[in-house]
Amino acid sequence: MTRVFSGIQPSGVPTLGNYLGAIRNWVPMQDRHECLFCIVDLHAITQFQPPAQLLAQTREMAAALLACGLSAEKCVLFVQSHVPAHAELGWIFNCVARIGWLNRMTQFKDKAGSDRENASAGLYVYPNLMAADILAYKATSVPVGDDQRQHLELANDIAQKFNHDYGVEFFPRIEPFIQGVAARVMSLRDGTKKMSKSDPSDQSRINLNDDADAIALKIRRAKTDPEPIPEHLSGLENRPEARNLVGILAAVTGTLPENVLREHAGQGFGQFKAVLTEALVAHLAPIRAEMLRLLQDPGALDAALHRGAERAEAIAQPVITEAKRIIGLLPRR
Ligand code: TYM
Repeated sequence: MTRVFSGIQPSGVPTLGNYLGAIRNWVPMQDRHECLFCIVDLHAITQFQPPAQLLAQTREMAAALLACGLSAEKCVLFVQSHVPAHAELGWIFNCVARIGWLNRMTQFKDKAGSDRENASAGLYVYPNLMAADILAYKATSVPVGDDQRQHLELANDIAQKFNHDYGVEFFPRIEPFIQGVAARVMSLRDGTKKMSKSDPSDQSRINLNDDADAIALKIRRAKTDPEPIPEHLSGLENRPEARNLVGILAAVTGTLPENVLREHAGQGFGQFKAVLTEALVAHLAPIRAEMLRLLQDPGALDAALHRGAERAEAIAQPVITEAKRIIGLLPRR
């Protein structure tokens, strides 16, 4: 059976982008594969998080993932820092990855911005820890949004170099699983930037716990252009905001952008936004309600995460021990 791994940072409430690009694709995988889904708090602290907020957001993330349809029985749902194997293998991979490889990571450049000297060293080696997350379980399938493609290529380079340097066939090849229409949901304020839970503007994103009024307001204020909805996809070229809203409606209604255009061609954005709001509210209201319900019992959430960490640890431990034998940190048997 394929082993699946994916992660999400508890750096805020998950957004519509996280949901459509990743979480929604995780749910059906639980029934077909052995799945591990990880709340990556060690990745979140590569950028400062107030401690109480980090704890609260970690729990909130667990509630959100369960509310979206993950089951703590069907998959292994856990917090990264609860399983030491991640940090251990992450260090080993810091010694395998090359600085030149990390220098090419576009996400570091985006996140560090113009003040690169002042970014944390952790942000720089972020992709090495990601490789460790996946390879500590020898997972081979990684469902993510499009923005993670480059990181997964790097993870494969690390696995290959490790195998080559030590003359083993130990770490497997990772296959990214990046799905279609909503693999890249863009900001509501700027169609050239991805929707992100850490964007300073809350108006730029839909959070999974936004209520109907908040969703309506954000969609009403979403940036658009004066042209009507076109008939064909070619009419969305150079219209990033229009393309984004069409893509979102297609994704939440389970259809293709072509079909959305066929149905709404000629409409202005006022009319289109009303339809989009209705579809989003219908889709997200049950998730929000379930999330709020789960958060009323923090003890149960913590217990589920604790069990998840035990199950994850049991899979990772033999892999780490074997990696240490290969490297010479432990004697060979
Ligand atoms: P994070 O928390 O930034 O994002 C979690 C998942 O959501 C996807 N995503 C998006 N998809 C479409 N449109 C968007 N606007 C959008 N924003 C985010 C991301 O691609 C991701 O799949 N580095 C990872 C976390 C991670 C991880 C891992 C993933 C840590 N270790 C190991 C896979 C395997 C991240 O950026 O999370």
